[in-house]
Amino acid sequence: MAVPTVRLPDAIVTLRDEHRYLTLLLETLEEQLNATELTAAADFFLIQDIVHYMHEYTDVVHHPTEDLMFDKLVQRNPDRAKDVAHLRKDHNAMHRETARIQKLLDTAARQKTPKAADAVRATTNKYIGRLRQHIEFEENELFPAAIQCLANRDWHAMDMSLEAKQDPLFGPTVQRDYRVLYEYFANRADQLSRQMTRFGFLQLDNMILSADALETGIAEMWNLLQRHGDLLTREFSVVTDKSFDGRGLASTLALQARYAGFVGTTAIEASSQAAGVYFRTLRNAAVSLFKGEQ
Ligand SMILES: [Fe+2]
Ligand SMILES: [Fe+2]
Repeated sequence: MAVPTVRLPDAIVTLRDEHRYLTLLLETLEEQLNATELTAAADFFLIQDIVHYMHEYTDVVHHPTEDLMFDKLVQRNPDRAKDVAHLRKDHNAMHRETARIQKLLDTAARQKTPKAADAVRATTNKYIGRLRQHIEFEENELFPAAIQCLANRDWHAMDMSLEAKQDPLFGPTVQRDYRVLYEYFANRADQLSRQMTRFGFLQLDNMILSADALETGIAEMWNLLQRHGDLLTREFSVVTDKSFDGRGLASTLALQARYAGFVGTTAIEASSQAAGVYFRTLRNAAVSLFKGEQ
């Protein structure tokens, strides 16, 4: 019997997507804090853009939308009041923290001293840890509870809140302030595609080696090599065309993730088919050898 699929409320889908983007931003923030000295103006560009996004969008749209959801959740399930109070406190604290980090970043970018850089690192790392734990708790505890308790009409206020302001980085239009950050992620995604393509073609190399080692079954292996190569090339050109067609960073990242999955799957399929050809050929060779001995 087919299991009926339950359609999740749009607001939850959006909030979860935003958590994925936030996770990516936090990773990048951490990388940048560790990779740069924070004593040259260029060291601050990406970090300032990311914290600016957190302060301008996450603190102003994402968290207040969740507050609306939490209000409904407590109305319907008062047992969750303590958890909700904790998360609301986090929202307020994080809003203050992003404002503080922005000030510390401005000071550090002006002073360019190790002491100012240390102040940025300490405060930002604390913020990163807090937001990661916060997201994990929402994903594991409160989002599932809200999905269970809230009625269809409850989600309307959250839809309105999310529609009131467009995401300036991951939304359909990238705002001017975020062009540098957008290019950074688009380039990263492009590099991922190229790495995955190399991985896909590495499988082809292995198959060529297998084919070289065989005297029979070459035609079958050759067809497989061609099919695998054609598939990879076609998928790569589709992804590259669509990635930069102005449909926004979110769709670019989703496409790249799909491509990574595609390469992994086709490489595994092709490898197992190659192994099939290999064993069949060995078996045929063994059978003919056996007949020859008789
Ligand atoms: Fe939250
Ligand atoms: Fe959240």
